[in-house]
Amino acid sequence: MRRGRNDGTLPSAPAGASSINLCDVHLALGDDPPAPVLGGVDLLAPAGEVTAIVGPSGCGKSTLLDVIAGLREPDHGQVLVGGHHADRIGRVALMPQRDALMPWRTLLANVEAGARLAGDAPDVARARARVALQQAGLAGFEHHYPHALSGGMRQRGALARTLLSGRGTWLLDEPFGALDALTRSEMHGVLKETCARHRPTVLLVTHDIAEAVLLAETVLVAGPSPMRIVDVIDTHAEGDAGGRERALESLRAAGVAA
Ligand SMILES: Nc1ncnc2c1ncn2[C@@H]1O[C@H](COP(=O)(O)OP(=O)(O)OP(=O)(O)O)[C@@H](O)[C@H]1O
Ligand SMILES: [Mg+2]
Repeated sequence: MRRGRNDGTLPSAPAGASSINLCDVHLALGDDPPAPVLGGVDLLAPAGEVTAIVGPSGCGKSTLLDVIAGLREPDHGQVLVGGHHADRIGRVALMPQRDALMPWRTLLANVEAGARLAGDAPDVARARARVALQQAGLAGFEHHYPHALSGGMRQRGALARTLLSGRGTWLLDEPFGALDALTRSEMHGVLKETCARHRPTVLLVTHDIAEAVLLAETVLVAGPSPMRIVDVIDTHAEGDAGGRERALESLRAAGVAA
């Protein structure tokens, strides 16, 4: 069941859950000449809520997360995390689209690093990492190195580490992309439960409109490159089927075959 918006039954967002606010963000990448990738992005991801971004491949979603995380500076426009511009790097936990695990550490040591980052003592971090791995269906693989895991297992490990990072603002880049339907549905449950308990700010990039509508309070529809947000869908107001239909219509109207 999706979390209710402002229904008074939920704890308020924790201090580390920052709003994300972008205003007219432009960025061009490459040389000779640089090609525009972000073409004036405006967005708001409210503190303590899940906001999803759906859009076609290559439209600039991963680049956008890099900009929000502070790994790239925009050419123009404003990026605020919790109202701050300059020191946003330490405020967010970024789960990159590909291979987010450190190859020289075992799965357990990778996930444990998330809890250590949150300030846990080593024994507490290890215990929390074991629980998180169990939740992610990875019990028994603690001592495997990333190269000895499947893509989906690495992805689940990376998500477990992000959830333990202690940071209240998460940027998740297609965190379920490598999973089969059953595992994906289980991991949706893990994310929903974690969000209901801790109320982080989540910006979730996904290709999957149904997943976006299922998990997010707000779905932002991105048009083709250079990226702009072409629609903002309140999933509570639209309902599941209505939200999916509207997102598809918006993508079609933006010229994306969907
Ligand atoms: N370092 C770079 N130099 C030049 N162009 C780049 C660079 N990084 C990304 N791009 C270009 O920016 C565009 C957007 O890439 P990005 O990875 O952000 O897309 P995306 O929406 O995340 O795609 P996908 O859904 O396939 O992951 C692409 O055309 C890509 O080729
Ligand atoms: Mg991407």
